[in-house]
Amino acid sequence: MGECAAARENVNPILPTGVREIIFPGALHQPIEDIMAEFQKLVFSGVQPTGNLHLGNYLGAIRKFVALQKDNDCIYCVVDEHALTAQLVHEDLRGQTRAIAAAYIASGIDPKKHIVFNQSAVAGHAELAWIFNCVARIGWMERMTQFKDKAGGKNAEQVSLGLLAYPSLMAADILLYRATHVPVGDDQKQHLELTRDIAQKFNIDFSANIRKEGYGIDIKVGDEPVHAYFPMVEPLIDGPAPRVMSLRDGTKKMSKSDPSDLSRINLMDDAETISKKIRKAKTDPDGLPSEPEGLKGRPEADNLGGIYAAVPDKTQPDWLGELGGAQFSVFKPALIELAVSVLAPITEEMRRLPGDTSHIDAILRDGGERANARAEKTMKEVRDIIGFLR
Ligand code: TYM
Repeated sequence: MGECAAARENVNPILPTGVREIIFPGALHQPIEDIMAEFQKLVFSGVQPTGNLHLGNYLGAIRKFVALQKDNDCIYCVVDEHALTAQLVHEDLRGQTRAIAAAYIASGIDPKKHIVFNQSAVAGHAELAWIFNCVARIGWMERMTQFKDKAGGKNAEQVSLGLLAYPSLMAADILLYRATHVPVGDDQKQHLELTRDIAQKFNIDFSANIRKEGYGIDIKVGDEPVHAYFPMVEPLIDGPAPRVMSLRDGTKKMSKSDPSDLSRINLMDDAETISKKIRKAKTDPDGLPSEPEGLKGRPEADNLGGIYAAVPDKTQPDWLGELGGAQFSVFKPALIELAVSVLAPITEEMRRLPGDTSHIDAILRDGGERANARAEKTMKEVRDIIGFLR
């Protein structure tokens, strides 16, 4: 029996090894770059409309979205269906959705050249997610650290089925457009690995149908030829700030859901608030070191220096060279000035835009129609591949 056939039968999610080893004992035979070259390059990413956008979202994700639009075809989504997974009822989901769209536009994303839309406007996301729910294994979902963090300690009555299935919807978001590159912060890495696993299993399980229906491309997985329909997405995580940490605790991620507002710089904070939060940010008594070794065991110093460097896109050796030896009393005012100068124009635009709801709604409507046209093409082909009667 070839490796793939063995792999197809060996889908027991209870096995203790990692997802990739369980299902795909043979690594892809063809170099991933060759496979990806067959798919048209397309960037996709999304942000949940839950709570205030913060500096982590901006530096880890949105700023990358802006940079990528220069040379790529991009789709940026406000993932409103994801917002229901952790909390069902929202006070102002429409307003939050508009606020994220406004943040995209205020940061410099061009909604005419690219696509900006909200997920629930395109029915294909939910439809493909259902199919992926049947491709993915429960064990894969249960191993997701974000699920374990959110569901940990709570019994099954208290977390939604949607929270468990969340990565399946995320895979559908990306693969509905057969997107190839996904800019995200470090916390989404595991979800993107799972997206690849779902794509891989779909390609293997439906290989014969994909070929019969005349879609997809030939690749090799281990020794077996597979006719693949979905690409293996490439996560774009690198950058100077893949994981911005809390200002109150350098071991915790900066997060929308942290109960302390002092833990994060929100994109809507004014200059005075940013200044107060940075002044109050946790530090230690030593100054900033000039060598990386001097940051060991000092997560707050590492984080604040990292933020200072990330804004103008500097490397760690660069910022250590510049700041080495500086006391926090000198460094913090410099950081405040930098953060305010970068965020103020975005904040100003974000405050103005959602007030003009018809403008934002028109952008989302237009984006939704264009996204839907692309999504429908994929869904028509996926329905053919699966064998749904038309
Ligand atoms: P969300 O809404 O939690 O976060 C949006 C983006 O911000 C990044 N991010 C951070 N980056 C650096 N430091 C931090 N402290 C920090 N906090 C958040 C996240 O990595 C993310 O890129 N599951 C996703 C939304 C999503 C998605 C998708 C993303 C749904 N479908 C398809 C990409 C492709 C999420 O909850 O992101």
